[in-house]
Amino acid sequence: MFDPSSIRRQFPILDQTIDGHPLIYLDSAATAQKPRAVLEAMQQFYEHDNGNAHRGMHVLAERATIAYEHARQTVKKFLNAKHAHEILFTKNATEAINLVARSWGSTLQSGDVIVLSIVEHHSNIVPWLQLKEQKGIELRWIDIDNEGQLKLEQLDEFLSEGNVKLVSITGLSNVLGVCPPLEKIIAKAHAAKAKVLIDAAQLVAHHSIDVQKLDVDFLAFSGHKLYGPTGIGVLYAKEELLDAMPPFLGGGTMINEVMTEYFTPADLPAKFEAGTQPMAEAVGLSAAIDWLTQYKWKDIEAHEKTLIETAHKELSAIQGLTILGPKNPHDRSGCISFTIDGIHPHDLTEILGKQGICLRAGHHCTQPLHRKLDITASSRLSIAIHSTSEEIQTTSASTSDCISRMR
Ligand code: ALA
Repeated sequence: MFDPSSIRRQFPILDQTIDGHPLIYLDSAATAQKPRAVLEAMQQFYEHDNGNAHRGMHVLAERATIAYEHARQTVKKFLNAKHAHEILFTKNATEAINLVARSWGSTLQSGDVIVLSIVEHHSNIVPWLQLKEQKGIELRWIDIDNEGQLKLEQLDEFLSEGNVKLVSITGLSNVLGVCPPLEKIIAKAHAAKAKVLIDAAQLVAHHSIDVQKLDVDFLAFSGHKLYGPTGIGVLYAKEELLDAMPPFLGGGTMINEVMTEYFTPADLPAKFEAGTQPMAEAVGLSAAIDWLTQYKWKDIEAHEKTLIETAHKELSAIQGLTILGPKNPHDRSGCISFTIDGIHPHDLTEILGKQGICLRAGHHCTQPLHRKLDITASSRLSIAIHSTSEEIQTTSASTSDCISRMR
């Protein structure tokens, strides 16, 4: 049975008070907390199995190799990738996107076009701006309507120009909570011979992902937003693309042969995994996926939908508070961002923080979106599988009190 309270008890960090207030963690979009199963798996790895994966014949190196490659298999199954070697471990989603920009992007030429949306996180903007500086590529931006939904007719216009090479888009906005229609976007892009990258950093903890069904070319996410550790992320890419791409980072293990004049790269996936890899983190990510997938997606989605509905209803009722993005809570997932007339988001979150309520304030690494909305910052409440309706209600009531006291 899906019981949020018992799920919450599996997160040791949540069992604490801040100045006598129970901790309410509603900042999972920034980083998710870790269930005991993840912490124990990493501890177990360091206490029993730590060696250098793919670098040694002794028993510990062998165990580390098995654990590391088992993690790759776990991610392959989780995303329903066709091959395990289509799963590359990176430091985080940011590095995964940079890998695509530096490696796949190295073949682009001046005048080639990459389409982004205005809701993108800086991780899915800056690597392309860097490529623009280096190669003279052009960027096009899909705008949003008043509800925060992408204006897909603009994608059609850009694709009809004929030189779009990539559409790089979030799967779930970390501010507005909108989920762009990925299947539709991918079908449109492919019909125009453009590739698609999905930044799934936010999507991955809230909805199931099937890369084969989506037919997506590249997909990136971070372990730490999926109840796993920091220091590990994933790039999924289709085999034929990875085969054609040059290595990203150079170093140990990514080679087949090194001469004084040249080197030849290793086969996939090692070609893209230079240096000692985040082995304990891979073990932690694998444990996080095993832990999360013991629950059914339909139960997780139903629970989180109720939380978002509750938060939307409660926050909408607060005078002077404006929710950003969709007016219908069913059109969003994961988070709700808002502004309050006359009160800076940092002031609100600092006061709530003293009562043990953790929200995030700022531009959330989405300056173009905030500029578009004509604001410099917002407050954000983001939920997780362990969040409860009571926590949302307490947060709304405390927000309301705080506003009354500050006015
Ligand atoms: N990208 C993370 C967030 O939106 C850090 O909070």
